[in-house]
Amino acid sequence: MGEGGSGNWSYADYLQLHELLELQGDDRNINSDEMHFIIVHQTFELWFKQVIRELSEARNILGGDHVPEDDIPRAVDHLGRTTEIFRLMANQWTVLETLTPQGFLAFRDGLGSASGFESFQMREFEILLGLDNDDRIGGMDPLSSFRRMAEGDERSATILARLENAMSQPSLYESMMNWVERTPIMGSSYGSKGDAENVRAYIETHLEAHRAVCEEAAERSAGWGAGDPSKMAARMAAAHDGAVSFLMPEGEVSRARAGLLFIESYRELPLLTWPRTLIDAIVELEESMVKWRHSHARMVERIMGRRIGTGGTSGVDYLDATSQYRIFKDLWGVRTILVKPEKRPALKNAEFYGYTAES
Ligand code: HEM
Repeated sequence: MGEGGSGNWSYADYLQLHELLELQGDDRNINSDEMHFIIVHQTFELWFKQVIRELSEARNILGGDHVPEDDIPRAVDHLGRTTEIFRLMANQWTVLETLTPQGFLAFRDGLGSASGFESFQMREFEILLGLDNDDRIGGMDPLSSFRRMAEGDERSATILARLENAMSQPSLYESMMNWVERTPIMGSSYGSKGDAENVRAYIETHLEAHRAVCEEAAERSAGWGAGDPSKMAARMAAAHDGAVSFLMPEGEVSRARAGLLFIESYRELPLLTWPRTLIDAIVELEESMVKWRHSHARMVERIMGRRIGTGGTSGVDYLDATSQYRIFKDLWGVRTILVKPEKRPALKNAEFYGYTAES
């Protein structure tokens, strides 16, 4: 057991159970509803602690200037565990749903302004993942409440310093995009001679295919008599413009997005197995978080309706709005602009990706 320990632990000492089990409010003589409310919160906070650990490690792996390919499986494992934790937590709300609205009201006033809104661990993993402040509801600064609390309170000051430190570090999203930017595209290596031209040629060919797909879709739908054909054509033209500005923001190719497009388009290439597995793991993680946020909102709606939260937000409406957050936007965005395999640009330098014409 524990590194450097004698190995001669008792179960209770190893887990610090005596200390742990003194923290559920028994000394305040609370009822079983409130104890269960505390235990569920504490359980989540313990999981949050593990989530921060897993995500930091994944971020550190991807954050290097060079990421050895055999490190990627470890990053995938950290992300996979985090996803399972979110799935577990999403299911854990059902325990809270055994609390009746009346049962909750009986002790709610005692919470004062305490709210999950002040969960500094939640803010830390959001920052670590890369949730942009501008994307938060009302452009909310996640640190402002902690700044207020830090005045004259040493523990809160430590928390604030911890969050500020997290803000100053690269996020998982940034690290992942830096890594994906270095993807060899059509056999062209990042930084090699002629790479910019090769990547641009790939993007232009993809965009031509995308335009053709949009035009065909507009024609097909006109054939079905679906809606107004001119409106459909305008919608498809707008979809194509969206693909252009995604891949070439301000007219310049984004190599990172081109890398993502390449990985998603040629998923079957052996050399892309780990990159696509990693991307899948991140998408799965964000999906599990969104579902977790969503199920929190449903639980809250059931227990306290649409009253305002103890943290002062609109309550359920606020929570529903947070489930619209998407951190890994480009991973979601690339899905909108893919074309089916027969339409994608012909693969160049297939042998580079461990693929031969016969295989
Ligand atoms: C009866 C149970 C619960 C109710 C009624 C409830 C209600 C709310 C409400 C209304 C908010 C919005 C902020 C506010 O104005 O207060 C909120 C936020 C939050 N709650 Fe809960 N909650 C409950 C249980 C939990 C549990 C068990 C956790 C686990 C740690 C939790 C974690 C959070 C977090 C992290 C936020 C911040 C969300 C964000 O800002 O994105 N809640 N909760």
